[in-house]
Amino acid sequence: MEKFDFSKLENRTNTMSAKWDKRKEIFNNENVLPLWVADSDWQTAPAVKESLLKRAEEGIFGYSFADQSVEEAVLNWLQKRFNLEIKKDWLIFDTGVVPAINFTLKTICKEDDAVIIQPPVYRPFFLAVKNNNCQLIKNELINKDGYYQMDLNDLENQIETAKAQGKNVRAMIFCSPHNPVGRVWEKSELLKLLRLLKKEDIYLLSDEIHSDLVYPGIKHQPVLKLLLAGEEFKEYRQKVISYMAASKTFNIAGLHTSYTIIESKELRAAYNAAKDGFGTGNSPFGLIGLKTAYNKGEEWLQAQLKYLKGNYDFLKEFLAAEIPQMKLIKAEGTYLAWLDCSQLGFETDAELIEFMNQKAEVGLNPGRWFGDAGSMYMRLNLACPRQRLEKGLTRIKNAVENL
Ligand SMILES: Cc1ncc(COP(=O)(O)O)c(C=O)c1O
Repeated sequence: MEKFDFSKLENRTNTMSAKWDKRKEIFNNENVLPLWVADSDWQTAPAVKESLLKRAEEGIFGYSFADQSVEEAVLNWLQKRFNLEIKKDWLIFDTGVVPAINFTLKTICKEDDAVIIQPPVYRPFFLAVKNNNCQLIKNELINKDGYYQMDLNDLENQIETAKAQGKNVRAMIFCSPHNPVGRVWEKSELLKLLRLLKKEDIYLLSDEIHSDLVYPGIKHQPVLKLLLAGEEFKEYRQKVISYMAASKTFNIAGLHTSYTIIESKELRAAYNAAKDGFGTGNSPFGLIGLKTAYNKGEEWLQAQLKYLKGNYDFLKEFLAAEIPQMKLIKAEGTYLAWLDCSQLGFETDAELIEFMNQKAEVGLNPGRWFGDAGSMYMRLNLACPRQRLEKGLTRIKNAVENL
């Protein structure tokens, strides 16, 4: 018996779970097996649960803030996992990465400034640009034989073209590791990107919420770590904002806590000013969850990563043997699987979605949710007991056979 059990079939219905209890509303079918939104179907680390129970026992839940013990937990975690040394003053605690990205654009952009993203990508990036009345530049990733890459030539061309048109290309929202394509960017790719952004003087908003979720043997490189090495990026670092959280890693996304790292004192002050009045205080549960996860969750995380890799390998083998028309994109991290469904024979995304929701009865994220570049793809969340994953895949297989 393993110390941590990721195979237990937890019942999440009637728990106000967005993943399970909104099936009728989202998929128009309450019987779908939900393999969509990025949270996991298992309990958080036992130490985290225990600390939350203990805090609940106190019975007082007033306004809270991240004290030194939370800051130290974050600094130690970044040191231990990524060999990344930052100062505690650089930390700002937020209620989530999505609001933090929105506040950052609010801080640095004026109306009509251009902001770059790399579709197919997490939909709230598109929305953050729109919310701030900015223009979108889409530097699409390229699927090269089932493995995605950045197209930096296209990026440079688009920046130059936009500038020639008089646009102010202000920022890029970067996803690292990348949701949904599962890339954990390599140091050499990151350095090329950083040099280009530095040359063009463009702010970098680096969403690293999935940084702990990498498969064995793969290493996540926080952009900040590369920027802090040597003198090359000393000035450019002042234009870089990183976002991290324990939320995906430890399945505590509902506790709404993340942290934003900003080295520049001026930018930090401007960011805090942009947040002022929006009621962005943290919940005591979120702060305690984060602190305990980082102080006591390492062993659980290692076990989880091993289980996730097992699920990824299972999915890969299942598709190759049973549904070869569906192609799994090679992933190095996140617990999300990006599936190329273009060979299933559907003419439109609407047909593909209808098939998954009503015929196969599985709830996946349609690729189009990640932009037009996601057309004819589906995203599947692997963070569930293998038995549940197998059930979902068997449903798809049977439905494909009946096509
Ligand atoms: C890349 C990325 N950023 C941000 C989030 C959500 O962050 P939060 O819940 O902290 O706002 C997700 C959730 O799936 C994500 O995949």
